[in-house]
Amino acid sequence: MNGSVGNSKGKVITCKAAVCWAPGEALVMEDIQVAPPQALEVRIRIICTALCHTDVSFWSNKQDNTRYPQIFGHEAVGRVESVGENVKDIEEGDLVIPVFMPHCTECVDCKSTESNMCARSENLISGLMASDNSSRFSINGKPIYHFLGVSSFSEYTVVEVDSLVKIDPMAAPDKVCLLSCGVTTGLGGVWKVGNVQKGSTVAVFGLGTVGMAVAEGARIRGASRIIGVDVNPKKFDIGKKFGVTEFVNPKDHEKPVHQVIKEMTGSGVDYSFECTGNKSVIVEAFKSTRNGWGTTVIIGVNMTEIPIDFGELLCGKTIKGSLFGGMKAKTDLPLLVDMYMKKELQLDDLITHEISFPEINKSFELLKGGECLRCIMWMDMALH
Ligand code: APR
Ligand code: ZN
Repeated sequence: MNGSVGNSKGKVITCKAAVCWAPGEALVMEDIQVAPPQALEVRIRIICTALCHTDVSFWSNKQDNTRYPQIFGHEAVGRVESVGENVKDIEEGDLVIPVFMPHCTECVDCKSTESNMCARSENLISGLMASDNSSRFSINGKPIYHFLGVSSFSEYTVVEVDSLVKIDPMAAPDKVCLLSCGVTTGLGGVWKVGNVQKGSTVAVFGLGTVGMAVAEGARIRGASRIIGVDVNPKKFDIGKKFGVTEFVNPKDHEKPVHQVIKEMTGSGVDYSFECTGNKSVIVEAFKSTRNGWGTTVIIGVNMTEIPIDFGELLCGKTIKGSLFGGMKAKTDLPLLVDMYMKKELQLDDLITHEISFPEINKSFELLKGGECLRCIMWMDMALH
């Protein structure tokens, strides 16, 4: 790798990146060029990154508009190498978390407290930087596309300042890396979108990192029962650490899960969270909630339509969706980092594996295997 903090400013950096040349193919470690940041952009050196389910969904989906070659990855922590013109509040050497959901703080959405949408997110899946519709990555003079404005599977990346959050320099990078996407999405789903109340009953469908974060969020809010639903029975023991009080494995029952949950609770849960991205699971999650005020929050990602019963909606149930758990990155992420550092939030047990960046293809296998929650990849094992 050429260039390090201090002497690379304004120059092209040659470094290693895990490039995806075609959907579903193993990533290839390549020497790539990373251009300096333009106005309102920041170039960062990634310290560690993790594979999230959403990377896998885009990587394996041959139907979508993803452009190749592409550098995936959107859950990471890095250090600022250099900043482009007009970048305020972030400077060289800062510890930062890149996020896929920008927070420009100035658009109508950002000014509203109702959601975390941001006008700047329109460009999210273009694979290009918004300022000039071009890429900062290249290989032998040919562009490589960005992913969700982050592309963390590279030693260096360029992101817009709106998608970068400065955090406490003392935070452990491998732990707070999880706040870059999955955990924040789960916690926000409970606190901001569902707004779970103390003493209420909750069902969590899918106990991956996102579902575990939902359980943790519900535990912190003081939910009285947290029912974890997963087809993998190994998830219950881990789930207990995050507040799951009961476990339902759909495979153990002839009847649909919503009936099991209604029998367990009398009338259904107050809140249910869909954390698998599976269409049939969304329907079960919705049917598991009680009439009157039952709220279903969809967190898993899916692009199909869902069959929802008209009559159940008329009985007062609500179904809500969100991205990044409704969290506003620049204001909410530093608070979560703080909570973690004060031991008010658990993250450590979500890290089940750690490998070095060149072993990146292993993390795909691990996530598929069902034993892995998050696998942290260190860019430089020496920093570990
Ligand atoms: N019923 C119950 N549980 C299921 C089902 C099902 N039909 N299908 C999958 N699961 C469980 C898996 O066993 C696993 O424990 O859901 C969990 C999903 O976990 P991960 O694959 O680790 O996914 P995670 O990173 O938590 O993301 C979950 O949120 O961000 C989105 O795109 C992401 O849709 C994905 C979801
Ligand atoms: Zn993600």
